[in-house]
Amino acid sequence: QLGEVADTLDMKIYLVGGFVRDLLLRQENLDIDVVVEGDGIAFAEAFAKTAECRIRSHQKFGTAVIVLPDGFKIDVASARIEYYESPAALPQVEHSSIRHDLYRRDFTINTLTISLNEESYGQLLDFFGGQRDLKEKQIRVLHNLSLIEDPTRLFRAVRFEQRLGFRIGRQTERLMRGAVRMKLVKKVGGARIRNELRQILDEPQVISALRRLEQFDLLKFIDPHLHFDRTTAQMIVSAEKTSSWFDLLYTGEKYHRWLLYLFCLLNFLSDKGLQRVSAWLDLAPKYRDLLLQLPPARKALKRAYYRAGSGNAPKNSDIYHWFNGLSLEIVLFVMAGSDNEQVRKWVSQYVTDFRKVKVLLDGNGLIELGLKPGPHFHQVFLTLLNARLNGEIRTLEDERQLVRE
Ligand code: CTP
Repeated sequence: QLGEVADTLDMKIYLVGGFVRDLLLRQENLDIDVVVEGDGIAFAEAFAKTAECRIRSHQKFGTAVIVLPDGFKIDVASARIEYYESPAALPQVEHSSIRHDLYRRDFTINTLTISLNEESYGQLLDFFGGQRDLKEKQIRVLHNLSLIEDPTRLFRAVRFEQRLGFRIGRQTERLMRGAVRMKLVKKVGGARIRNELRQILDEPQVISALRRLEQFDLLKFIDPHLHFDRTTAQMIVSAEKTSSWFDLLYTGEKYHRWLLYLFCLLNFLSDKGLQRVSAWLDLAPKYRDLLLQLPPARKALKRAYYRAGSGNAPKNSDIYHWFNGLSLEIVLFVMAGSDNEQVRKWVSQYVTDFRKVKVLLDGNGLIELGLKPGPHFHQVFLTLLNARLNGEIRTLEDERQLVRE
């Protein structure tokens, strides 16, 4: 249908990018990107007349997104029409504008294209050796300036290499090392680095990807004191296990696994270092606040270790107050970071049970029981909560009874 609409507008249309790459690798990819030679927005508007969908367009970039009723999205970009194109063009000029568009892209494996116009429907176009590199499992840039044009590609190279189980090609590796020596990444803003780092931390192969970033000496662009060593690797393995454990509880709570891994990676930074990195990466305030919970989380962990060492078992309410106020990601991080069986058990109890314990009485309930409102209510609620956590009371009536006493 995309092809038909393009045909009526006399436009060429191509499927491009990750979708084609993954199609050839027989891997699922639900992001559809198309490029039309001409005005992509006009194309999307014409498409919207033939099918039920919404479109969002960005005039500045000449791009549009077609959103189908089931939420499925198609990104449409425009390739500039080259002035020398004509119906009688020579074969090598025939696809010049799509070729030109693809030439700006990062790696050969991302430049494979499938024509969607009726007369050439399904034809695979491979201008830069993408098929060869898919076969040889190589990540290669198209030309020597690629990393200078966009240094975030250093991170992307590692991400694709690890995700696909490929290898960065020799010349590309040389260019990457040169780009690191020239500190090109410094010219890129922290926000774009954060974006790349987040995508890496969201990949299943997070450990090998971080190891590769270390090998390329790329972590220093996240923070000069950052290193990926055996201890951090072990901690991430432990974080993976912890997050699988939590997922199997099926609580339905959403949490950011990438943040959990980010905490592991940044764990050895000082408090000042954490502030520095969160400013540089321009973390959203909600993530920055979580990152700044690392120091209190370390303190909570220390307290738990001390208690485990003393042989003096804590009450449930003690455990609750060690961790209360920390976000779920941070508590999972604490659990991943504890190599003491006893401490892990306490944290897991906090996650599965204690943090959900609530007092049933509210302020009005206390007033009904004859208490005068005031700051001491806080102490009353705390006493009730602790009694509940420690199993001393169970029902609403138990709470009332305790208040009366
Ligand atoms: N691209 C690029 N340089 C970048 C980012 C993107 O050349 N710094 C190009 C790539 O060729 C890519 C396309 O833009 O194919 C779309 O980018 P993105 O959606 O990030 O890549 P995908 O290949 O779709 O990757 P993923 O499978 O992770 O979505």
